[in-house]
Amino acid sequence: MYTMISGTGSALPENRVANRDFERLVDTSDEWISTRTGISERRISSGENTSVFAARAAANALSSAGIGPLDVDLVIAATVSPDKFTPTVSCQVQKALGLVKATCFDLWAGCTGFIFALMTADSMIRSGLFGRALVIGAEVLSKLVDWTDRGTCVLFGDGAGAVVLSHSENPGILAHFTGSDGARGHVLCIDGVPLASPWTAGADSSSSQPGSVIRMDGQEVFKFAVTAMQQSIRRVCDLAGIELDDVPYIIPHQANDRIIESVAGRMKIPRSRFYTNLDRRGNTSAASIPIALDEMNRADMLKARMPLLLVGFGGGLTWGASMVRWMPNSREDS
Ligand code: ACO
Repeated sequence: MYTMISGTGSALPENRVANRDFERLVDTSDEWISTRTGISERRISSGENTSVFAARAAANALSSAGIGPLDVDLVIAATVSPDKFTPTVSCQVQKALGLVKATCFDLWAGCTGFIFALMTADSMIRSGLFGRALVIGAEVLSKLVDWTDRGTCVLFGDGAGAVVLSHSENPGILAHFTGSDGARGHVLCIDGVPLASPWTAGADSSSSQPGSVIRMDGQEVFKFAVTAMQQSIRRVCDLAGIELDDVPYIIPHQANDRIIESVAGRMKIPRSRFYTNLDRRGNTSAASIPIALDEMNRADMLKARMPLLLVGFGGGLTWGASMVRWMPNSREDS
C-alpha cells in the first residue's frame, strides 16, 4: 500500500511586519536583519490564534485535493504554539471544518514537527488503520517571542500549511529519516507551565504564571542546523534510492538563508534548487515546510513524478527529511 500528497493549502495573517518596524522595538536595523538572516518581512497575527490559521490551511488543502470534510479520517497537527493545552489544534480544526469522522491529535517536535507528522500519518495510512489524513503545521509564534530580545524577535512569523495524504496506486511518499538529541535541548527552549501546587516546596501556587518565551543560542543552533540538514538530506536519498542530483527541489525549513547557503555550499548543491520564501515569511517553525510546498504547488512549479526533498531541524533537538514523489493527479485507490 502506498500514500501520496493529494492536496496542499496554507493560510497567513494579513498583517505584514517589515524589518524597519523592529527598529522602534529593539536596537536593530533592516540591514542587519536582511544580511544576517535573509528575512525582509514576516506576517504577524493581529488577533487570530493558531487553530484559526490551521483550519484555513486545512480547508484550502481539502479543496486542492477535491475532497470534503467527511472524507478525512485522521488529522495530525504539528505545533509548538497551540491555542490551549486542550482541546488540541487538530480537535479545534475538526470542529471548525466538521471533520466528524476523524481521529485528531497534535504532535510536538519543534520546527521539525511537520516532517514527524508526515511520517506518522504515512505510517498510519500504510498500516491500513486510516484512509485519508490531513497533516498540518501551524504556528502563532508571536505569542512566544520576547519582543525585547533582538536576537530572536526579528526571526519568526505566523501562519499554517497543510497537506492531504491519501492512498495511492504508486509510491508518492518514498522515505523518511528522523533523529533527535534531547541532550542538546537547552540550546533552543520554550519553558512550560511552572511546577507549582500545594505540595511543591517553596512554590506559590496562587501566583499568576509568567509567560513562556523562545530562548535560543543562535550560534549553536546554526551549527547544529548545518550538520543535521546535511545528514538528513544524505540519509533520505539513500533510503529512497534516489540520487541527490535527480531531485529538482529541496524544500528546507525556512530559518535562515545563511544556514541554507552553508548547506548548499558544503554539499555542492546549486542554491537555486533550495526553494525559499523566508524573505517574505520569516521562520514559521512547523508551518514553514507546508507553506512553502503550497506556494510551489500554486505557482505550478511541481510536475508529475518529480521527487521533492523536504528537510527540517528544530527544538528538541530534532531533525529529519521526507522524500516525496509528486503525483497529485494519480487515482486514489482508497
Ligand atoms: N540586530 C542587530 N544586532 C543583533 C541582532 C539584531 N536583530 N541580533 C543579534 N545582534 C547582535 C548581537 O547582540 C551581537 O552583538 P555583540 O557582538 O555586540 O555581542 C552581534 O549581533 C552578533 O551576534 P551573533 O549571535 O553572533 O549573530 P549571528 O551572525 O550568529 O546571527 C542569528 C544571529 C541570526 C540568530 C544566527 O545565529 C542564526 O540564524 N542562528 C540560527 C537560528 C535559527 O535558525 N533559529 C531557529 C531554528 S529552530 C526553529 O526554527 C525554532
